[in-house]
Amino acid sequence: MSPLIEVEVPLDDRSYRVIVGDGAAESLPQLVPERAKRAAIVTQAGIGLAVDPGVEHRIFEIGDGETAKAMSTIEDLCRRFAQWGLTRNDVIIGVGGGLVTDVAGFAAAVYHRGVDVIHVSTTLLGQIDASVGGKTGVNLPEGKNLVGAYWQPAGVICDTSVLSSLPPREYKSGLGEMAKYHFLGGSDLEGLPIAERVARCVQIKADVVGSDEREGGRRAILNYGHTLGHAIEIAGQFDVRHGEAVAIGLVYAAEVARRLGRVDAARVQEHRHVVGSYDLSHRLPDGSDHDELLSLFTRDKKALDGVTFVLDGPNGVEPVTGIDEDILRDALRAVS
Ligand code: GLY
Repeated sequence: MSPLIEVEVPLDDRSYRVIVGDGAAESLPQLVPERAKRAAIVTQAGIGLAVDPGVEHRIFEIGDGETAKAMSTIEDLCRRFAQWGLTRNDVIIGVGGGLVTDVAGFAAAVYHRGVDVIHVSTTLLGQIDASVGGKTGVNLPEGKNLVGAYWQPAGVICDTSVLSSLPPREYKSGLGEMAKYHFLGGSDLEGLPIAERVARCVQIKADVVGSDEREGGRRAILNYGHTLGHAIEIAGQFDVRHGEAVAIGLVYAAEVARRLGRVDAARVQEHRHVVGSYDLSHRLPDGSDHDELLSLFTRDKKALDGVTFVLDGPNGVEPVTGIDEDILRDALRAVS
């Protein structure tokens, strides 16, 4: 078995370790704070990863699907924690994909006004994105992720041995998010074994989060490819997973950047190559309505100042505001 890789998320006295590799889950007791006497393990029925935190623990299952990512789940969990007697010195451990770690993290942020949380991430998407960086939250009927908190974990486990048992579509969705990192400083990703690749993506995210924890600026680059990606997901009538939508969004963002003179045709081709190397499509689903997608760009909750896109350019990937609708429309044709 390859040695485990440790990445630090640098946040001064709230810095934490992310332990990556096959069998990393066995390192969980190392991350449990010394003062914790009990661990509440938040997970779902189908996750199938049994963890041993090395202290007294109890399993708290939540439901599947986006409907479980709700305020009612947070209330339910907190009530069950209280009935068990979980104290502010104890620890909550989220074991699952992004939905579980978002919910467990938010419950940890609010229970007793904040208790330690550790994430044991079991999907590729979760390992390279949701579990690291402290964004937690739930949906409202009015929209996704509308209620939440920044609550950094005490540590994160990315056990890559679980990735081989993921459903193929779930794994492929993670690859779309991985493709993003190629353009955020990860040009060395190609050719790395999977555990090193995950660790490299985590390292890139850790550096960004360490420099801009609350998305005052630079952290927005982590949304590269996501404006069109979210629009495709929200349009909703397509069978497209998050990472698959992001992959299309990456190539689209490159097409927009080329029309603004920020990158050349070779760089657009590089985007197509990376996305293709993960066997992901860079074409909009058949039947996409360009007017609908354009109107969804302005509804993206990150559109604070007209249509904001995260675009590649001479200074690297950065947010760009006020993009002309004709350019956005023309670039949509290039990914159709
Ligand atoms: N998923 C983007 C971020 O954590 O900022």
